[in-house]
Amino acid sequence: MPVKMVAIFGASTVLWILFAASQAFKIEISPEHRTIAQIGDSMSLTCSTTGCESPSFSWRTQIDSPLSGKVRTEGAKSVLTMDPVGFGNEHSYLCTATCDSGKLERGIQVDIYSLPKDPEIEFSGPLEVGKPVVVKCLARDVYPVDRLELELFKGDRLMKNQEFLEEMAKKSLETKSLEVTFTPVIEDTGKRLACRAKLHIDQIDSKPEEKQTVKELQVYTSPTNTEISVHPSTRLHEGGAVTMTCSSEGLPAPEIFWHKKSDNGVLQLLSGNATLTLIAMRMEDSGIYVCEGVNLIGKDSTEVELIVEEKPFTVDISPRSPVTAQVGDSVVLTCAAVGCDSPSISWRTETESPLNGDVRSEGAKSTLTFNSVSFENEHSYLCAVTCLRRTLEKKVQVGIYSFSEDPKIEMSGLLVHGRPVTVNCTVPNVYPFDHLEIELLKGETILMNKHFLEEMGTKSLETKGLEMTFIPTTEDTGKMLVCLAKLHSGEMESEPKQRQSTQTLYVNVAPSEATIWVSPSSVLEEGSPVNLTCSSDGFPAPQILWSRQLDNGELQPLSETTTLTFMSTKLEDSGVYVCEGINQAGISRKSVDLIIEGLSERHTAYSLPIEESKRDNWVSCTPREMCPKRG
Ligand SMILES: *[C@@H]1O[C@H](CO)[C@@H](O)[C@H](O)[C@H]1NC(C)=O
Ligand SMILES: *[C@@H]1O[C@H](CO)[C@@H](O)[C@H](O)[C@H]1NC(C)=O
Ligand SMILES: *[C@@H]1O[C@H](CO)[C@@H](O)[C@H](O)[C@H]1NC(C)=O
Repeated sequence: MPVKMVAIFGASTVLWILFAASQAFKIEISPEHRTIAQIGDSMSLTCSTTGCESPSFSWRTQIDSPLSGKVRTEGAKSVLTMDPVGFGNEHSYLCTATCDSGKLERGIQVDIYSLPKDPEIEFSGPLEVGKPVVVKCLARDVYPVDRLELELFKGDRLMKNQEFLEEMAKKSLETKSLEVTFTPVIEDTGKRLACRAKLHIDQIDSKPEEKQTVKELQVYTSPTNTEISVHPSTRLHEGGAVTMTCSSEGLPAPEIFWHKKSDNGVLQLLSGNATLTLIAMRMEDSGIYVCEGVNLIGKDSTEVELIVEEKPFTVDISPRSPVTAQVGDSVVLTCAAVGCDSPSISWRTETESPLNGDVRSEGAKSTLTFNSVSFENEHSYLCAVTCLRRTLEKKVQVGIYSFSEDPKIEMSGLLVHGRPVTVNCTVPNVYPFDHLEIELLKGETILMNKHFLEEMGTKSLETKGLEMTFIPTTEDTGKMLVCLAKLHSGEMESEPKQRQSTQTLYVNVAPSEATIWVSPSSVLEEGSPVNLTCSSDGFPAPQILWSRQLDNGELQPLSETTTLTFMSTKLEDSGVYVCEGINQAGISRKSVDLIIEGLSERHTAYSLPIEESKRDNWVSCTPREMCPKRG
């Protein structure tokens, strides 16, 4: 705000002329003698008269320059207005008033100055502790500069003052400044730096036109001690998170910027926040992270290396491989990812054949269910688990077997002492038969053992067996015939599956040669009684059957008792009588000739020695079916 100072000075420098006039006619000018105005303001000079009805006024400058103002006259008053005040107004002005009675004149000196604005304080740069800085105190649009004095204070202490006494070439507004170089210290912060501009317009009056600007000093320090703290660790697992906090000291407090250094060293801005949280880290997020503290006077950075490691996860399959299941069983394979939160799990067969099962996945687990296993399920199954971008695969082998029935023991026929018999031991519906072993035991003795190592063609249920011929003896009776079938799993250590059938041996003995006792004799007189008694050993005890041999060779059964009794023989009872000892193992046969004689015929009966040999013939025929048919 311009301050108008109106000073009334002594008359020494003022020139004025007084004309002779009537008593009453007087002239006055205000302000009196001298005035000072700031360039740009407005100023009025007023010339007034008394003692004249209608005076006329005229204004001029002493050196007849233009007035640079407007005149307005009204009655006994004339006002010269300068708006705005400029260099053209720095004159001595004369006001002349003319009346009938005469002419009066008054003069006034108009001085001008310019100090319109507060001075400015400029620094050559930010104030940094220990770094010399140039402070400039600057006053703009000053006139007259040869009256200007600039002062610069820090606190109460005058740093520098300067006057600008040089010659002025022309009238103009000028900008002047003083400069001081100083080195800030931290204690300067808060101190006041004052730039004061004084314009000594009049040397006589001691009070100058004065303006000042005050600045509070703010001293800065460049960022330093930039530090990073990492939580939980610079070593991370894939998918993990890390929080890094960076601090940096400086004045003003540094702003923090986080960057990642790329392979070619270029910094890539991540955040403008002191705390940087990185989540779901991937392996390629490994690298150097740079924290930079920045304030207006500098920057400081520090770096940290993060290492993201593969997350260790494993795949578990249960049950353990190899899994063996019987045809028709239900089997559940479970695949679980351990150490992975949200894996993706898939199943396949090694041969890329259809799964033939139901897959159900939930969380970190997946099951493959076969409700009823068949040959189609005999595969190696692979469970693939993908965690983040890594895939692990684990194999489980499913083996199918069928071994649902006990072996069957079959004999080629009855067990007869001393007669070879063939035993078949068969295992029905077995798979895989190349893992089958059949053992045939009699009591503790292994009769035969067989491994079925031949190649398998197509997968199918087959019946396998062994055949063995042996000769039973009576000692074998009561012993156990055991057929033991073992289905090996193919694994060395695991026990084979076993099934067995047993049969108690019961050995028959074919009837021995029959013995016939004839009482009293085979040659009898007609009418005599005779007993034919027959016996035969065997097991079970043979049954005795007496028959008479007819002329055509056929046998006519007579009795099933051991003794065939004739109470009173007749001539026609003569003939061949056959005794048969019979059990399930065979028949033995013996015959006897019974000769009934009339009293006169007695000698002839003994005259036939050839016939004698025929009488003693016997037959033992086994098996029983092969013996000649009886009539
Ligand atoms: C920095 O992050 C914190 C926490 O996320 C937040 O509260 C704060 O506003 C952030 N500051 C800036 C400057 O972004
Ligand atoms: C024993 O098995 C064989 C085939 O293995 C068969 O030819 C034979 O007839 C069988 N014998 C009996 C008594 O079942
Ligand atoms: C025949 O046997 C019966 C009964 O044993 C006996 O009584 C009878 O005397 C016997 N006859 C002869 C001739 O031996």
